[in-house]
Amino acid sequence: MLKNLNLLKTHGYINGQWVGDNVKSRFDVTNAYTNEVISTLPDMGKKETDEAILAANAAWPEWRSRTAKERAAILKKWFDLIMSNQEDLAMLMTAEQGKPLAEARGEVGYGASFIEWFAEEGKRTYGDVIPTPANDRRILVIKQPIGVVASITPWNFPIAMITRKCAPALAAGCPVVIKPAAETPLSALAIAELADQAGIPKGIINVIVGTNSSEIGLALTDSKIVRKLSFTGSTAVGKILTRNCADTMKKVSMELGGNAPFIVFDDADIDAAVAGAMISKFRNTGQTCVCTNRFLVQEGIYEEFVKRLADAVKTLNVGNGMDEGVNQGPLISLKALDKVKDHLSDAVDRGAVIVAGGKPHQNGGTMFEPTVVSNVDSSMKIASEETFGPLAPIFKFSTEQEAIDMANDTEFGLASYFFTNDINRIWRVSEALEYGMVGVNEGVISNEVAPFGGIKESGLGREGSHYGIDDFLELKYICMGGLK
Ligand code: SIN
Repeated sequence: MLKNLNLLKTHGYINGQWVGDNVKSRFDVTNAYTNEVISTLPDMGKKETDEAILAANAAWPEWRSRTAKERAAILKKWFDLIMSNQEDLAMLMTAEQGKPLAEARGEVGYGASFIEWFAEEGKRTYGDVIPTPANDRRILVIKQPIGVVASITPWNFPIAMITRKCAPALAAGCPVVIKPAAETPLSALAIAELADQAGIPKGIINVIVGTNSSEIGLALTDSKIVRKLSFTGSTAVGKILTRNCADTMKKVSMELGGNAPFIVFDDADIDAAVAGAMISKFRNTGQTCVCTNRFLVQEGIYEEFVKRLADAVKTLNVGNGMDEGVNQGPLISLKALDKVKDHLSDAVDRGAVIVAGGKPHQNGGTMFEPTVVSNVDSSMKIASEETFGPLAPIFKFSTEQEAIDMANDTEFGLASYFFTNDINRIWRVSEALEYGMVGVNEGVISNEVAPFGGIKESGLGREGSHYGIDDFLELKYICMGGLK
């Protein structure tokens, strides 16, 4: 039960108002574990999206005219309010998304950290004075807010993926229109309520809720007013959105799918590797873009690693994320469950051996036993497709070069991990991996100070860190001529 019932919303949020009574239909937001209805929301579409874009654009001039320090003061209040409501926000998140409460608390803190970070970074969007090629001229570069930003965010991190986009946008002086996933809109609306209490002016944050993602997405991408789209989700949808943004030449950032390798060399500290493997693979029940998709283990420790990982996996506790001691929740949908089943049966049909788990969980619903399979090879779907679930396939390799080739043999390039105690290898392999992020002897590498993002078909742009604000700024070159 929430302490602050005002955080549980029944409307969308446009221009500082809780709206949607006039929308024809409504949709249910359900508890990911029990399926009970938590709230119903207006099923918004193009009309409301257009209204939100206009409201954002009207609010923009006043917000951009404030100093970065003034904006930072408001952002810090928002940060404080999120942290003082951490428990309620975590409960709401666990209810609609399913992740265990401890992980949800962690995500609230992680999400809030982007607001605190970018409140400060907004003050440091320095320009340049460039040495002139002509004595009568001076050459300056300033950075200015890009304009109305659209954020389309996923269900797996219902708060952090919003704040990682919106905090830099707001700090840079831009207004935002957010479209959270239809599975997890309540967390988004709850933090919008806290933004309102923090004094973020009306129109600067707008939240459009609805199940018709293509209609809302098209309204955002077709708009001439929206100047920037920031999306986290699948590569397939990212490609469609990028194409749609081309007609209005919007700036895009795309945080897309991955196929993360996790390499364990013979010389690794095996305790650390197993601990890293558990967190990297099973965080959010395997439903993160940076989750390990493929374990690549050197032949000398292959058998031992398989056994140790299987033993650790058997201790995981699957169930209702609200319950004490549960560390694996349900998958987000039956479709997600089917994908895990399909990847597993394809692997087993081609010779993989199940060493832990291997079937839908006795609790039913969308739960699947945390599973480890050995004897996997590159012919199997799990080698090339992102499973997005609690399935850990373990490949074998002989040489360092073979591991690098296997790791890079994918169109994706988001996160990668490897474990070794050899400093020379650390440099060689870090530089050879074709990924935007590399964890060395670490299984979780996300934080607000580091640049998060991928290369190849895993996306464009970086979020978080001092780089993460650039996507919300335009460079302007000013040439001051005729100087005497
Ligand atoms: C994601 O899965 O998209 C984000 C994961 C993270 O921020 O660590």
